[in-house]
Amino acid sequence: MSFNEEYKQRTEYIEEVLKKYLPEKEGYQSVIMDAMEYSLMAGGKRLRPILMLETYRLFGGSGKEIEPFLAAIEMIHTYSLVHDDLPAMDNDDYRRGRKTTHIVYGEDMGILAGDALLNYAFETALRVFDGNPEHCVRAGKALKILAQKAGINGMIGGQVVDVKESGHAVSGEMLDFIYRLKTGALLEASMMVGAVMAGASDGDVEAIGKIAGKIGLAFQIQDDILDVTSTTEQLGKPVHSDEKNEKTTYVTWKGIEEARKDTTRLTREAVEELHRFLSGDDFLERLFGWLVYREK
Ligand code: IPE
Ligand code: IPE
Ligand code: MG
Ligand code: MG
Ligand code: MG
Repeated sequence: MSFNEEYKQRTEYIEEVLKKYLPEKEGYQSVIMDAMEYSLMAGGKRLRPILMLETYRLFGGSGKEIEPFLAAIEMIHTYSLVHDDLPAMDNDDYRRGRKTTHIVYGEDMGILAGDALLNYAFETALRVFDGNPEHCVRAGKALKILAQKAGINGMIGGQVVDVKESGHAVSGEMLDFIYRLKTGALLEASMMVGAVMAGASDGDVEAIGKIAGKIGLAFQIQDDILDVTSTTEQLGKPVHSDEKNEKTTYVTWKGIEEARKDTTRLTREAVEELHRFLSGDDFLERLFGWLVYREK
């Protein structure tokens, strides 16, 4: 099977899981369930749940108890996008090939849809406790990772500095800090939660987190590159958003060629570190390779 087919198969499974965990549309507040579905089911690469699932499998996981976490990480990621696009932040009108949530539902509901997705992510993840009590200790550890990586020392922290420093020149060190937090942290959470839920040792979970951090940094650099080299049709979101918002990026800092070299180097390092966990040909390794050259 080709890489694209394998990727598609996994995406389809993630879509099914997301549908299963979507909230019922009911009550006077049902507009918020609509807005949640609108942003969540708009497509997207589903990279974070796929990374989680593959890491879970890598450490021998095969049960269904990973599913609440697969849905939760995509809900948290989607909320981060809904808020990232708000007029007060990057002020973008398209996402995942559609008008952004605040354009369709209004800014008030855009803010609330983000809040709702974040809270519902934890409501969803907590459903792991409805299952086999054997998984409770792992699930507790996984929840702690998820909460921390999404928070002030993770994704939110990175977004804070990204927004605060818009329009200013940012040092390379600070740029790395922003990327490791705003993007790296959720990729770390994805892989670490997968490892934890499969019963990996603390040392292995730590090592997996480092690998994911490198991939996260490479992923954000590639996102910066695509922001200047791609098209809105291809990305499903506006290009030149960073220029519009006067962001310092890897591209403005180093130029495209150097930025590309960094994504290649970081990915190579991540793949090398992953090798000790692999036994033969593995989708995860091919996925890492694809991320550097992805066009969307
Ligand atoms: C976009 O993430 C935001 C970044 C962290 C660069 P993705 O590129 O994974 O967006 P979707 O989920 O495919 O829409
Ligand atoms: C955002 O980075 C990362 C998030 C935590 C949402 P960007 O602002 O570059 O992401 P895009 O390009 O809008 O997807
Ligand atoms: Mg942004
Ligand atoms: Mg943005
Ligand atoms: Mg971007």
